[in-house]
Amino acid sequence: MPQDKPLVIATRRLPASIEARLSELFDARLNTDDHPMTEGELKEAVAQADILVPTVSDRLDADVLAAAGPRLRMIANFGVGVDHIDLQAAAARGLKVSNTPGVLTDDTADITLILMLNAMRRTTEGERLLRAGKWPGWSPTWHLGQAIRGKTLGIIGMGRIGRAVAERAKAFGMEIHYHNRSRLPEEQEKALQATYWEDVEAMLPRMNVVSVNCPRTPETVNMLSRQRIATLRPDCVVVNTARGGVIDEEALADALAEGRIAGAGLDVYDNEPRVNPRLIALENVVLAPHMGSSTIEARTAMGEKVIINIKTFIDGHTPPDSVFDDD
Ligand code: DGY
Repeated sequence: MPQDKPLVIATRRLPASIEARLSELFDARLNTDDHPMTEGELKEAVAQADILVPTVSDRLDADVLAAAGPRLRMIANFGVGVDHIDLQAAAARGLKVSNTPGVLTDDTADITLILMLNAMRRTTEGERLLRAGKWPGWSPTWHLGQAIRGKTLGIIGMGRIGRAVAERAKAFGMEIHYHNRSRLPEEQEKALQATYWEDVEAMLPRMNVVSVNCPRTPETVNMLSRQRIATLRPDCVVVNTARGGVIDEEALADALAEGRIAGAGLDVYDNEPRVNPRLIALENVVLAPHMGSSTIEARTAMGEKVIINIKTFIDGHTPPDSVFDDD
């Protein structure tokens, strides 16, 4: 690392306090008009920077990383998910990669509940009808949804966010079930009154709601496959606040369009920011534009983590949120 201030390139606008601090500490190059960088611009950035601060909307594949210049030492991701970065290619170039876990847990769990409650009670659909002047007035049988209390919730991925979803859902009187690579410690399971399913296929057909809360990795891509979606109950609501690609989006759209499941609440998509037009056309889907961490508090805390990771690395230590296990 050169002796003068390292060149830190941020690919998007960051909260003002974070940009100010980055500029104080480093030779910071900010994206003042917040445009999403093209592949060419990303290549230029990795060719020049000592440290790159990308976000989920930047695809850092092997081709982009191959353009990295000799100065590039670190990718300090602004966000927890790192599926947009080719980690193998980064490791092969000796790059450190860090992320921002822990500070967006509650906000992402909140969005999960917002989508779940909304899809079950059909409130967005009701609002659309009201705004279109199509509310015929109160009646005992018009526009009914499903009650929450007593329903089974199957959480796929019981990390920080999955557990925060479970806590909230428990407060709503739901019965918590989960599938995860490893079982939770007994005390945690007890506190959440959660039932562990080693076999996701055994869990799915029994759930009123399925919530995807696992990262997108080679192991979880297409976890909710067409075949598995076909086993869901007709009253099932599917929620995804994790990543597109974990669910087979076309198969989900088919099941929703054919009324084989009741509804869905989605915050993430296969080809963001493009959203499958079939999903947009469906009434029984609540759609949010990747808003899990979109609070000023979470985004500021994410920025603080980015700064701490960079600073620690520059000072010669392993960044606290290094994504590589052997660090
Ligand atoms: C993340 O941090 O990975 C989120 O998806 C951004 O909200």
